[in-house]
Amino acid sequence: MSLKNKKILIIVGGGIAAYKSLDLIRLLKKNNNEVKSILTKSGREFVTPLSITTLTKSKTFEDIFDKNSEAEIDHISLSRWADIIIVMPTTANFMTKLSAGKAEDLATTVILASNKDVLLVPAMNVRMWLHKATQINLKTLQDFGYLFIGPEKGEMACGEYGEGKMSSPKQIFSFLENYFKKRNSVKERKLKAIVTAGPTREFIDPVRYISNESSGKQGYEIAVALSKMGVKTTLISGPTNIIFQKGIRTKKITTAEEMLEEVKKSLPVDIAICAAAVSDFKPISKSTSKLKKNQDNLNSIKLKKNKDIVEYLGKNNKFRPKLVVGFAAETENLNKNAFTKMKEKNCDLIIANDVSEADKGFNSDFNKVNIISNNGKIIQIKKNKKSYIAHKIVEVVLNKFFVDDRNFN
Ligand code: PMT
Repeated sequence: MSLKNKKILIIVGGGIAAYKSLDLIRLLKKNNNEVKSILTKSGREFVTPLSITTLTKSKTFEDIFDKNSEAEIDHISLSRWADIIIVMPTTANFMTKLSAGKAEDLATTVILASNKDVLLVPAMNVRMWLHKATQINLKTLQDFGYLFIGPEKGEMACGEYGEGKMSSPKQIFSFLENYFKKRNSVKERKLKAIVTAGPTREFIDPVRYISNESSGKQGYEIAVALSKMGVKTTLISGPTNIIFQKGIRTKKITTAEEMLEEVKKSLPVDIAICAAAVSDFKPISKSTSKLKKNQDNLNSIKLKKNKDIVEYLGKNNKFRPKLVVGFAAETENLNKNAFTKMKEKNCDLIIANDVSEADKGFNSDFNKVNIISNNGKIIQIKKNKKSYIAHKIVEVVLNKFFVDDRNFN
């Protein structure tokens, strides 16, 4: 078992599945982990503080204003103490509170004040889960970076059948095992990555250029997701309006040529993810002065191809990253065209990006992608916020890095 010596904070929510938190506590303790628990007011309707304390061998926290330990400021110390926070069961009501950023009791305040990952384990009636309000909350919470496991399909306590059943303590335990395994591996290997993002500008004269609609959002979110996993990340970005991300080394460039130079300087790295929309062509020559409009037609601007950065990485004999991940922005034949690009550029993975509609892809907060592996296997990610898409991409990339394609089987 790789899950041991961890500090785990379990927030017990108010649902019939609350009793299963006791099984998880027992499982974690049996494997030499430290567990502390917060019991919410409604959770107390289902389990008692005494049963939790008996298993955790620690005080069960309940009140935000606790006369006995207020001096320690529980909502800060608990979240700093934990390696991860788990909310089980996560009710529909609890999801609403988190989506709104509420801090109305100890549980919600700890989460809002937390600098750790929070794993939500939903459990509710199938209609409640599928209700538009809950699904909107789900998207918001995914965008905030909360992790989810479940809910599973099955028979519920109310007798109805469907999606809403809480994942079992064993499933949560193995989720935690994978979570910590990946983090430890990243830490031990001191993984380094580069991410390219945004557009490039290819100047015709001092004030005019060829470019595209890329906002840089998708690449920046990928850099954030990698960095959250402990990967030392360098972001190489074209011109964007995004504020620099704290803790991520960022190199700003303007042209494709400059982007390539920064990529070269950042090598060697373990992983390269190229989300930038690099101009395929640049003007053969740039006018040193602003072009005058004293002619009716400007008959042609001669262009030449820019060097392909992903291809440079994919076919690099000396410094090829172990994993080279390209993007393919396509409006038709998504998978086929992406697969061809992956082969041509010798990538290990390609993110086939459906940019056929304006509400996703370029300069949108949303994206919809298929992650294609060099063995032809495909994972489809439905339309979602770019932060969520980034998190999924990083999950697959790290899985492939460490266990090669387990995720694709
Ligand atoms: O920036 P956003 O507004 O968030 O939008 C995100 C995005 C749509 C730009 C992004 O998700 C995306 O799809 N990026 C790739 C866009 C693109 O230029 O695709 P392509 O099919 O033309 O290029 C294929 C791959 O080759 C890409 O990884 C690209 O970075 C790379 N390339 C292309 C040309 C070149 N000279 N060098 C390269 O490295």
